[in-house]
Amino acid sequence: MAERILVTAALPYANGQIHLGHLAGAYLPSDIYVRFQRLKGREVVFICGSDEHGVPITLTADKEGITPQAVVDRYHAMNKAAFEKFGMSFDNYSRTSLPLHHRTALEFFLDFHKRGILKEKKEQQFFDPKANMFLPDRYVEGTCPVCSNPEARGDQCERCGSYLNPTELINPKSKISGEVPVLRETSHLYFPLGEYQKKLESYIDIRNKRDRWKDNVLKYCQSWFKDGLQDRAVTRDLDWGVKIPLPGYESKVLYVWFDAVLGYISSTKEWSERTGKPDEWKKFWQDESTKYVAFIGKDNVVFHCIVFPAMLMAWNETHQQKYVLPENVPANEFLNFEGQKFSKSRGIGIDVQDFLERFPADPLRYYLASSLPEYRDSDFYWRDFQAKNNNELADILGNFVNRTLAFAGKTFNGVVPERGDITSLDRTILDALNATPTAAQKCFEEYRFRDALLEIMNLARAANKYFNDSEPWKTAKSDASRCATTINVSIQVARSLAVLMFPFVPSSCEKIWRMLALEGKAAEQSWDSAGSAVIPPGHKLGTTEILFTKIEDDVIEQAIRETTNQQPAPSATPKQVEEKPSITIDDFKKVELRVAKILECEPVPKSEKLLKLQVEVGTERRQIVAGIAKHYKPEDLIGKSVVVVYNLQPAKLMGQESKGMILAASSDDDGKLFVVSPLGEIASGSVVR
Ligand code: 2FM
Ligand code: ZN
Repeated sequence: MAERILVTAALPYANGQIHLGHLAGAYLPSDIYVRFQRLKGREVVFICGSDEHGVPITLTADKEGITPQAVVDRYHAMNKAAFEKFGMSFDNYSRTSLPLHHRTALEFFLDFHKRGILKEKKEQQFFDPKANMFLPDRYVEGTCPVCSNPEARGDQCERCGSYLNPTELINPKSKISGEVPVLRETSHLYFPLGEYQKKLESYIDIRNKRDRWKDNVLKYCQSWFKDGLQDRAVTRDLDWGVKIPLPGYESKVLYVWFDAVLGYISSTKEWSERTGKPDEWKKFWQDESTKYVAFIGKDNVVFHCIVFPAMLMAWNETHQQKYVLPENVPANEFLNFEGQKFSKSRGIGIDVQDFLERFPADPLRYYLASSLPEYRDSDFYWRDFQAKNNNELADILGNFVNRTLAFAGKTFNGVVPERGDITSLDRTILDALNATPTAAQKCFEEYRFRDALLEIMNLARAANKYFNDSEPWKTAKSDASRCATTINVSIQVARSLAVLMFPFVPSSCEKIWRMLALEGKAAEQSWDSAGSAVIPPGHKLGTTEILFTKIEDDVIEQAIRETTNQQPAPSATPKQVEEKPSITIDDFKKVELRVAKILECEPVPKSEKLLKLQVEVGTERRQIVAGIAKHYKPEDLIGKSVVVVYNLQPAKLMGQESKGMILAASSDDDGKLFVVSPLGEIASGSVVR
C-alpha cells in the first residue's frame, strides 16, 4: 500500500444545497477512506471544493435577478458549512471562481492550444437576437421530438430521458427572452479525445489489475470505448466561467467540465499555500509514488475515468513534471429516498443542513455507511434510519461501552482492574479483537465500506455477548478476579472500538475516548493498536456519558411527513427487528429443528392465547402448548405439518406441560402470526437444517 495518498471528492455544483444522495455517492465514502488511511499513518491530503461554473448557475442567477457570483457565494458557504457539520475532514475546500483556479485551468488550456492539440471547428448554434447572445443548450427550450413534451431542454428531455441537440427541438425558444432563436456560425476548440482511446484503455486495464476497479465503473468505460471516443468541445459561448484570452474567443469561456476537474489541482495548490508549504502540492500531484483515488458518483464516471486522465496524459506528453493519474475511481451508484428519486421540485428528499438540524451527524453517517450504494442503487428510509440508530448504535455500540464503563465505575471505582487468568471466553473475544483490524482493513482497501462496518460491528456484538455470558454482576460477588478480568477485557475492547469505528462515527469515538480518559484523541491513534489490549491496569477512567440517544416514533413520523409529502403509516411499515450477533454454524447446530405432524389440538381452558397440541415427531408423540389461539382454530391445524424446536427445555404454560416450540413468523406490527410449515410432503421427525 502506498504511503502517500491523494484523495479527491467530486466538487459539488454551487447551485443548490447538497442532499443525502450526494453524501452517499462521493462524500461519506471518501471521508471514511481518508480517516482510515490517516489512522494507518499514511500521508494523506483530502481535497474538495465548489464547482462554481456551468450553465445551471447562470440560469439560477437569471431567474433570481442576481449575479452568478452571488449564487455561488451563497451555495459555497452553505455547502461548506454542511460538510463541516457532517464531519467531512477535507484538508481543503476551495472554489473554482478563485483566480488561482482560473490560472491553473488556463495553464492547461493554453498549453494544449500552443501545442496545437486543440482543433478549431466552426458550427451553427442558436443565437438570441434580442439578448444578443449565443444560447448554451440549456438556454433553449422546445417540444421534444421523441415524446412531444413541450418543455424539453436543449440538451435533454426530462420526461423521456432522450439526449437532444437544441436544433432538434420543435418550436425552439430562448429561455432568456422567449424569442425564437436563430442559427449563427460560431467557432469552438475541441479536445481530440479519440486520439487517446488506446492509451486510456490500457491505463484502465493496468490500474484495474493493480487496484481492482468496480465492475460498474469498468462497464461504463467499456461502453464509451465501444462507441468510440469523439472530439469534445472545451469552449462555450457564455460569459460566466474561465475567460479565454485568445483573439476571437473574448466572449467565450472554458467548458465547465474542462475546468472543474482541474479544480482538484488548484484546491491542492490553495491548501499548500495556506499551510505555508507552497510546493507541497507537487509532492501529491507530481510524484509517481503517490496513490491518487478519486471518489465520485456514477454520473461523473466519464469525466474522471476518460476525460480527466486524457487531459493529464496530454500534459504529461511534453512536460518534465508529470501528473499522477487516478489509481482508482470508486464511483458509487445512486441513493434514492423512500423509494423515489430525490427531487427538490416535488419536495422529495432532505438536504444535509436540514437533516443535521434534526439529528446529529454520527447516526446519519452510520446509517448511510451501512447502506451505501456501492454496487447498486440503495434507499434511505426514515424507519431504517431510526432502527439503525436505536437497535445498533444505541443498543449494541452505546450499550456495550456504557455498561462496561458504568460497571467499572461502580465496582472498581473507575480504575481499570488487573486481569487474572484468561478463560476460553476471554480468549474468544481477545482473538476477535486481534483479528478485526486486519479483516476490516482489507475491506477499506478494497473500497468495501459496508463490509468494513459489518466486521467492526460484529466485534461490538461479540463484546456484548461476552459481557452477558461472563455475568460480571454475579462474579463480582463470587469470584473477584474473574470479574476484574471481564471488566479489564471489556475496557480494552471499548478502546479498540473507539479506534475502529472512528472512520464511521468520529464524534462519538472521541466521546468514548474522553470517557476512557486516554491521552490524545481517537483520531491520533494507530489503527494497528486496535488489535491489542493496551490500557494498563490502574488507569483511571473518566466520566460516563450517554453516547447515542434513541429516536422516538413521533420524531420520525414528523420527518416523514415533512420530507416525503406522505402521511407516515406506522402500522403498515414493518418495524425493524433487532439484529442479533452473527453465530457460527456450530451455534446453529445446537438448535434441533424437526418436522412435527399435528394430531390433536384444543384450546387451553381460561386462556385466550394458548392452544394445546399433540404432535407426532417420528415415532414419538409429545404435547406442545403454543400462543396461537388468536390466529388459528384447532380444526385448521389438525393434520398439518409444522416445524418445532425439538430440544427446547420443557416448560409449563398455564399449568400445561409443553415440550418444544412451534415456529411461527410475525411482523410484530400488525399482530398477525403465521405458523411455519414445510413446502411439500415430508415425514414427521425429519430434521430441518
Ligand atoms: O456532478 C457534479 O456535481 C459536478 N459538479 C462534479 C464535478 S467533479 C470535478 F470534476 F470537479
Ligand atoms: Zn421527450
